[in-house]
Amino acid sequence: MATNMFKTNLIEKVLFAIIYFIFSTTNTTKAFDTSSCASQPDLTIIPIYGKCSPFKPTPGPWADTIINMASKDPARLDYLASFVARRKPGSSAPTASGQVFNIGGYVVRARLGTPGQLMFMVLDTSTDEAWVPCTCCTGCLSTSTPFSPTASATYGGSITCSATKCYQGRGAQTCPAGPGSTSACIFNQSYGGVMFSATLVHDSISLARETISKYSFGCVNSVSGGSIPAQGLLGLGRGPLSLFSQSLSLYSGVFSYCLPSFRSYYFSGSLKLGLSGQPRRIQTTPLLRNPRRPSLYYVNLTGVSVGRVRVPLPREFLAFNPNTGSGTIIDSGTVITRFVQPVYNAIRDEFRRQVKGPFSSLGAFDTCFEKSYERLAPIMKLHFEGLDLKLPFENSLIHSSSGSLACLAMAAAPNNVNSVLNVIANLQQQNLRILFDTVNNKVGIARELCN
Ligand SMILES: *[C@@H]1O[C@H](CO)[C@@H](O)[C@H](O)[C@H]1NC(C)=O
Ligand SMILES: *[C@@H]1O[C@H](CO)[C@@H](O)[C@H](O)[C@H]1NC(C)=O
Repeated sequence: MATNMFKTNLIEKVLFAIIYFIFSTTNTTKAFDTSSCASQPDLTIIPIYGKCSPFKPTPGPWADTIINMASKDPARLDYLASFVARRKPGSSAPTASGQVFNIGGYVVRARLGTPGQLMFMVLDTSTDEAWVPCTCCTGCLSTSTPFSPTASATYGGSITCSATKCYQGRGAQTCPAGPGSTSACIFNQSYGGVMFSATLVHDSISLARETISKYSFGCVNSVSGGSIPAQGLLGLGRGPLSLFSQSLSLYSGVFSYCLPSFRSYYFSGSLKLGLSGQPRRIQTTPLLRNPRRPSLYYVNLTGVSVGRVRVPLPREFLAFNPNTGSGTIIDSGTVITRFVQPVYNAIRDEFRRQVKGPFSSLGAFDTCFEKSYERLAPIMKLHFEGLDLKLPFENSLIHSSSGSLACLAMAAAPNNVNSVLNVIANLQQQNLRILFDTVNNKVGIARELCN
């Protein structure tokens, strides 16, 4: 009797919880309660169109948002390919001008200067430098919240063009008055086809409770050919100007993130900086260093399985080659995983063999099929040296907004001269903790529901 009562009670509680959940979520949709968002000094990773992001979306069906965002991947891949060191100045021509370039799907909160000026900066693991629009900026979005150097007591002014730090940045301009000059360090960059010019300055930056003093970052003075992220970008690459290179004593070159599901409009993931709080036991794969592309996190992808089949892939398309830049990187700014064409074709063909057609295309996805055949969809595995990553279905399939189609959520890299790079992207990283140890050259991956 007592057990029965307990059971009834439990069922009631569960029902109540479900109803309460439905009620509270519908309620939040209406009230758009962001009060819990901005107050804490934490390191949540916020989907750029999520509830706690200041970049208000037209939420719409999330599948449409992803398809729209994925359509900008080719410009992203071009950007990644442009990293070959020692390009001739001015040779990085804009590739897709005139658009708002919503690169990167996630933002984190940082405070620049003293008192801290709150910025929602795009997280970018393939860029070293951080940059923010400054008050003087011409061509910046009118909606951007610029950083005001004059309002900061710790603003350290610009770095000179002859300082080592200056030419560690991409697109650094030569000193107008020759070496030894004390003019400001200016760098011009193309970010996804949008040109901007910034002065390298220094001031403190606070992430959660920690402050890095004299952090060097770009103060954007002018933008042309489109828009850059409205509150700047935080570079988490591994080159000399990145956050980790500038904070070695604080974070020991270690960080991890867990990206929330794209669907989780109400939720956030987390960024963890430094050794504390990192998973102790985690499978790892070596991090490879390409001196010609020092910002990028290269890993050794050795194969891909579709269901039980290990897809035969031509070795040369997976092999790491520092000279050509070929190989595989993990990136937080590309929306869907891109394989070079021959690799993608082989994976896709095997996938199609195991699922029932006919197949249609939707945006960047060329393997969409009737959702009722989804039960036939094989599990995909990415094999890295020393680490096998089994992709949960939410990381390998995407549904159309109408819900009638399911698509293989990967694509081929754009077919141009630079396509030698395989990119493991956001959608495939959802709800995984990805740990980067830049000192011991390791990447760890573990399943974590961080929604
Ligand atoms: C860098 O950008 C500034 C501002 O747009 C421009 O005046 C300058 O000519 C650019 N330099 C180069 C080498 O493109
Ligand atoms: C990648 O892993 C394979 C298999 O373990 C190995 O033969 C190869 O040397 C590795 N490549 C690099 C660049 O470490």
